[in-house]
Amino acid sequence: MKRIAIYNAKPEMVLAKEIYSRNGRLLLRKGVVLSREWIDRLVNYGVPTVYVEPEGIDLQDHEQPEDGEMTGQKARRIYRNQVPDIISAEVREDAERVVREIMNDIKTGRLIKTDKARKVVENIIDRLLKTSHIAGKLADIRILDDYTFAHSVNVCILAISTGIVMGYSRIRLRELGLGALLHDVGKMKIPDAILKKPGPLTEKEFQEIKRHTVMGYELLTEQGKISSNAARIALEHHECCNGSGYPGGIDGKKIHEYSKIVALADVYDALTADRVYKNAILPYEAMEIIIASSGYQFDPVIVRIFVENSEIYPVGSIVELNNGATGIVVNVHRALPTRPIIKLIYDSTGLELMDGTEIDMMTNTTIFVNKIVSFRKNPSL
Ligand SMILES: [Fe+2]
Repeated sequence: MKRIAIYNAKPEMVLAKEIYSRNGRLLLRKGVVLSREWIDRLVNYGVPTVYVEPEGIDLQDHEQPEDGEMTGQKARRIYRNQVPDIISAEVREDAERVVREIMNDIKTGRLIKTDKARKVVENIIDRLLKTSHIAGKLADIRILDDYTFAHSVNVCILAISTGIVMGYSRIRLRELGLGALLHDVGKMKIPDAILKKPGPLTEKEFQEIKRHTVMGYELLTEQGKISSNAARIALEHHECCNGSGYPGGIDGKKIHEYSKIVALADVYDALTADRVYKNAILPYEAMEIIIASSGYQFDPVIVRIFVENSEIYPVGSIVELNNGATGIVVNVHRALPTRPIIKLIYDSTGLELMDGTEIDMMTNTTIFVNKIVSFRKNPSL
């Protein structure tokens, strides 16, 4: 099964997972063959991604691009089905379902079930600790939707990944992961009319939105039975290092390190998340915004760790090498992100290569990237 953006869905594709509406209603069952009408309807419902059964991922099986098609487009099409998610589809689905359940429980006034969230976080930690090149795969967490659930899961993955890089113990990773997953639960206490208002907010409405931090903290400490450090993430994830944030306007010395990590992960994912109706900005642009905010909005130490462990050439980017060949970045070494592993698409004469030859730039030191043909923006394009 693979996850694709709804705008890449085509009639005849077979659904590999059920599709739910924003309020949790079942829209389509697994196994349904998509029609054009249904795809249009899903777009209207605001469903950003669907899981479909794969149609075969061998390069040889792939449809051949038409003559005259640009190199970048062609290479992206070949690569389209090969970018793996940093966590499995099952773990992601499970995580999103649990966040959806918890958010719904809050909305309907039921008690929060943090046990399920703990299990999800444990699963994500397990997967991430087994991933050898976390930084090289971080680009893949940018999945194609703006669901609060998906965003929460992404922030959780980014935060845990940062914690791993910082040498956190498992106990701290658990606290950080749980707090990150539930950082925005307070939003469920904000009226939909404000939360989903399409236009700009009035000052009063903005003040109301800001309350999701305090409300989230109260919910988690009163009902969630989670540690105060984890709950502080909900309270402090909009605080800024220079004291200009909310709700407390406290400065960097008083903000918990967990909250600083989640603040950065929250903004990074929001900036780079691909939306159905709105194109996300490129990762390096997001990185520039974050670097520019270092010391003001974000803690400089966390920014440095985050940037150092992010990619210069994200997985999926198409690059031209100094020997004239063109290839796709398929993996990035955490220690040396400027020397990624490239799968060749064209040789120096422009001849298409279909044998999957890879060059590890860490060991091939005479090879370097001449230019980025296409910075990876969207793994499904
Ligand atoms: Fe928030």
